[in-house]
Amino acid sequence: MPARMNTKDIPLQARGLTKRFILHTQGGTEIPVFDGIDLKVASAECVCLHGPSGAGKSTLLRSLYANYKPDAGKILVQHDGSMVDLLAVEPWEVIEIRRRTIGYVSQFLHVIPRVPALNIVAAPAIMNGVDADTAYSAARTLLSRLRIPERLWSLAPATFSGGEQQRVNIARGFIVEYPVLLLDEPTASLDDANRLTVVELIDEAKVRGAAIVGIFHDGGVREAAADRLFEVGQPLVQKRLPNTAAEAAA
Ligand SMILES: Nc1ncnc2c1ncn2[C@@H]1O[C@H](COP(=O)(O)OP(=O)(O)OP(=O)(O)O)[C@@H](O)[C@H]1O
Ligand SMILES: [Mg+2]
Repeated sequence: MPARMNTKDIPLQARGLTKRFILHTQGGTEIPVFDGIDLKVASAECVCLHGPSGAGKSTLLRSLYANYKPDAGKILVQHDGSMVDLLAVEPWEVIEIRRRTIGYVSQFLHVIPRVPALNIVAAPAIMNGVDADTAYSAARTLLSRLRIPERLWSLAPATFSGGEQQRVNIARGFIVEYPVLLLDEPTASLDDANRLTVVELIDEAKVRGAAIVGIFHDGGVREAAADRLFEVGQPLVQKRLPNTAAEAAA
């Protein structure tokens, strides 16, 4: 019984997460980013990853989406009623988990040539089985709320301004009611009014029970959206791995 309550209340949990980069083309330099991170994100909670530039916030967020593969640890996600380890499942399951369970708003929109903004926003809902009329109507509502002028809806966002592209990306990230939502600086290029709208969208997602992890550089957004800060440590000391067996033996 308590185990069931836990899976319900903590949709996302990282345990002992460790990540380093090895720059094979630069003398095997090793960049340890984080070591043994434990993070629990509850339903209806927004956790802000916090720490100095280079501390590993984006690396952690990308790891939680399985974009980067940590060297050790588990990422437990509540998916289809049970906890699955995102790092241990098959690649097709990662795709399923991303389609239905974990939403991710990257900092920059991945522009697909010739696909209109409205379709880009509606696509994740349609991929989740929502009928086209409902999905396009929800996409219009989100684009209006985020102040994308209607004349742009039928255009591909390649020519949009940075802030317009970011807002299309946010609309796309919020059109599905993902149980887990990862936000990488969603308000970085936005004006005050749109920042406020993003805070409202985050609040609405919390009210419906989403577990949210975000990086918010803007202090106002952080104050308004985050329930707590999760400190991501200072960069660990860099060391170079031995290039050759002789070096390793020395
Ligand atoms: N793909 C990569 N390959 C090698 N090193 C990387 C890679 N991505 C990040 N790093 C390194 O990992 C460390 C953490 O980077 P990360 O981008 O996670 O920091 P951050 O906390 O998001 O910083 P910022 O606030 O500036 O965005 C940095 O030292 C960076 O150089
Ligand atoms: Mg970053």
